[in-house]
Amino acid sequence: MAQVLIEQLGKRFANSASATAALEGIDLTIADGEFVTLVGASGCGKSTLLRILAGLETHTSGRVLCAGRPISGPGADRAMVFQHYSLYPWLNVMDNIKFSRRLKVNREEITSADVEAASGRADALLDLIGLAKVAGAYPSQLSGGMQQRVAIARALMGRPDMLLMDEPFGALDAQTREVMHDLILHIHRVEKPTIVFVTHDVEEAIYLGQRVVLMQPRPGRIHSIYPVPLPAARTQEMKHGAEFRALKNEILARIRESAGVNTDQDLLERLNMAASA
Ligand SMILES: Nc1ncnc2c1ncn2[C@@H]1O[C@H](COP(=O)(O)OP(=O)(O)OP(=O)(O)O)[C@@H](O)[C@H]1O
Ligand SMILES: [Mg+2]
Repeated sequence: MAQVLIEQLGKRFANSASATAALEGIDLTIADGEFVTLVGASGCGKSTLLRILAGLETHTSGRVLCAGRPISGPGADRAMVFQHYSLYPWLNVMDNIKFSRRLKVNREEITSADVEAASGRADALLDLIGLAKVAGAYPSQLSGGMQQRVAIARALMGRPDMLLMDEPFGALDAQTREVMHDLILHIHRVEKPTIVFVTHDVEEAIYLGQRVVLMQPRPGRIHSIYPVPLPAARTQEMKHGAEFRALKNEILARIRESAGVNTDQDLLERLNMAASA
């Protein structure tokens, strides 16, 4: 059974200055356990689509089903990771990971065995993200990459069926990103959540995704969907392969066409011409 079914999905913001739709006519089916990446020019509705899947935003037309049921709000089956590390600064690493569980512990139906199992899972997740040694540290004592690893562990704590990630590695340096890429692929293999991952970085989209969904702005819609022609087990060397580079160039060219702004290269050339005139 398909995990996510999106049919003719549309979104208009009532208060939006521009009358164009943030999303229009989106059709997309995402299989259970699939890793899908979303790319596209700024403003094409990537975050809006993700927020609708998270239940943080309503849609204005069409329908969106998760495991056969319409999405009507946030749920424990779906967890979101944002670009900016959204850890609680007053809680240490372990307590940040357990935070959502602590809320649930207050409910009467949760037994002490459940709490113990949760502690075991928090420990296992800390091991998985390689931060067992800093369980007692506070977010301000960690690097950006470490904080984002904790945020991912916190999202995984409730065993979500779906992980929704909005440019989660956008603020990290290139080396840390590569480490995070292999970590998230490892997590996908081990825990098998369905992952919908938004990024500006086409290389990241291809390296991580089983399919890359390219979106287009004004109105926000799907331009094309590219199956990634790489084996399931990815290695960094694959980025240098001919198929990888061909797909990257193809997607970059399509984004440039749809962005409606001059590329950096065009701007530089115009500046140069102006300077020499
Ligand atoms: N709360 C809102 N109110 C009004 N308009 C909004 C709101 N949120 C988004 N929009 C508009 O909807 C469109 C899609 O925005 P969205 O943030 O989904 O794009 P995006 O693809 O994530 O862009 P970026 O790559 O810059 O993050 C934009 O035109 C934006 O201005
Ligand atoms: Mg966005």
